Amino acid sequence: MTETASPTGPRTLAIPPRPPDLQGIPVGERRAIVVGASSGMGAALVRQLAREGYQVAALARRAGELETLKAELEPVARAAGGAVTVRAVDASDAGAAPAMFEELVLGLGGLDLFIYAAGVMPKLERTEYPTDKDLSVLDVNCAGLVAWGNLAAHLFTTQRRGTLVGISSIAGDRGRKGFPVYCASKAFMNTYLEALRNRLSEVDVHVCTIKPGFVDTAMTQGMKGLFWLISAEEAARQILSAARKRVNTRYVPGRWFFVGTTIKLIPSFVFRKLNF
Ligand SMILES: NC(=O)c1ccc[n+]([C@@H]2O[C@H](COP(=O)([O-])OP(=O)(O)OC[C@H]3O[C@@H](n4cnc5c(N)ncnc54)[C@H](OP(=O)(O)O)[C@@H]3O)[C@@H](O)[C@H]2O)c1
Repeated sequence: MTETASPTGPRTLAIPPRPPDLQGIPVGERRAIVVGASSGMGAALVRQLAREGYQVAALARRAGELETLKAELEPVARAAGGAVTVRAVDASDAGAAPAMFEELVLGLGGLDLFIYAAGVMPKLERTEYPTDKDLSVLDVNCAGLVAWGNLAAHLFTTQRRGTLVGISSIAGDRGRKGFPVYCASKAFMNTYLEALRNRLSEVDVHVCTIKPGFVDTAMTQGMKGLFWLISAEEAARQILSAARKRVNTRYVPGRWFFVGTTIKLIPSFVFRKLNF
């Protein structure tokens, strides 16, 4: 509090505005890394975090997109007491991850929230079995998550606090004809994230698995027959809400829970007749 002179009378005490208290998250605990942040849900998550006054580091391969995002968000973030840092990196380069992670955590002054939003799903014909393409999906969706997720898990274990979020997919609930390796990569994510959640629960660190349905991003551009499509911004809002409520697994939007639960119950001999 500071003392100021009032033009109309005696000196009064000016009470500084209270910093925004975001769902109980203190200002000093708003430090986040988002991997896969140059477009889609990752970029929307960075936008929301910047608006909320986070110190947020946005990572992806396309430096140009990241710089554009930073330029857009800098005034918003600064006004809210936060900042946006960007780094161009290939998340599947496991060798590059430790040094960059350490540099970012030092720069942010700590870490409270880690989000892995990087993912690829190349177009695939039903008759195609392209090993190179398939292995590149595993590199980003699985190896990248492990490379970065392990670093976040280790740090959060040491400090006994933090939240780790992985964006998986409803596609991981069953093996579909259309995208065998993409589905398998998301099933890997689900199991890896569940195992981390079980381990880290011992030190009160939360791990949240997100299973989106259809979200309007570059990944779904040109796809036919999409339904219940939501914007990346709406998905980001629901993702952060689930993470803050310490939800274990959240379908986004929530109605996909019924689809996920139903398709898991369909017997294999019936499921293979469906045109997924
Ligand atoms: N859209 C949907 O309907 C939907 C549904 C279920 C699940 N998902 C999942 O949601 C996640 C986000 O996807 P999105 O829909 O937001 O699509 P998107 O706009 O294509 O975003 C994908 C992000 O991943 C980044 N990325 C890809 N490869 C990378 C790499 N090697 N290193 C670092 N970053 C990499 C991309 O950035 P760069 O290309 O710049 O590297 C981009 O920022 C993905 O895991 C996806 O599988 C999406």
